[in-house]
Amino acid sequence: MPITTCIFDAYGTLFDVAAAARQAAAEPDFAAIKDTWPDIAEQWRLKQLQYTWLRAITGDHTDFWRVTQDGLDWALQKTGHDNDLTLRERLLALYWELQAYPEVPAMLQRLKSAGLNTAILSNGSPDMLNGAVQSAGIGNVLDDCLSVESVGIFKPDARVYDLVGARFGCARDEVLFVSSNGWDAAGAAGYGFSTVWVNRAGEPMDRLPSVPGTVLGDLTGIPDVAGA
Ligand code: LAC
Repeated sequence: MPITTCIFDAYGTLFDVAAAARQAAAEPDFAAIKDTWPDIAEQWRLKQLQYTWLRAITGDHTDFWRVTQDGLDWALQKTGHDNDLTLRERLLALYWELQAYPEVPAMLQRLKSAGLNTAILSNGSPDMLNGAVQSAGIGNVLDDCLSVESVGIFKPDARVYDLVGARFGCARDEVLFVSSNGWDAAGAAGYGFSTVWVNRAGEPMDRLPSVPGTVLGDLTGIPDVAGA
């Protein structure tokens, strides 16, 4: 089936999750993390994601804003910054206005011009996603922002991927699902979507039951893969 619908993961895929720590580190008030910000960003992201999976397994769902704060608190303690409440507040504020990767607006515009449906499907809560979309100025090239909060469980639970067919009335094989998270791309491939894994950092392929159909280094080639 030709692709009718392009669905994007948000954090790490459209929005640069390392931007919060990178940006804070460049501000005079937070010179203390000038050299260590990449470590903070990595530990924060890792714990944030682990908490989503663990809460999905145990049935203790909470929203992504809570696990984002919990992950940051763990990362700040791990890196010796747990008493720096000003830094904590600054990093959390920056998370609401993460930069989109530079190729995002033109890539989405090309998909829309070709008549394809475009949407985000994210662990993010609706408020967080709205904040990020507004701040990146890409609301006009997205048809919708689908949040796991509608089903109360995190990716890669199949109920999350079900939201796409429910919203757009499309078959699984009409969907191109794009994620920078290898495990998310693998989950969506197992579900039956066509998939792209955006592997900016040249990471090894995740050893999971399904593998993404295409691997790209950034988002520029998405319209070509979608046949737009
Ligand atoms: C999301 C996380 C997985 O946006 O990055 O769903």
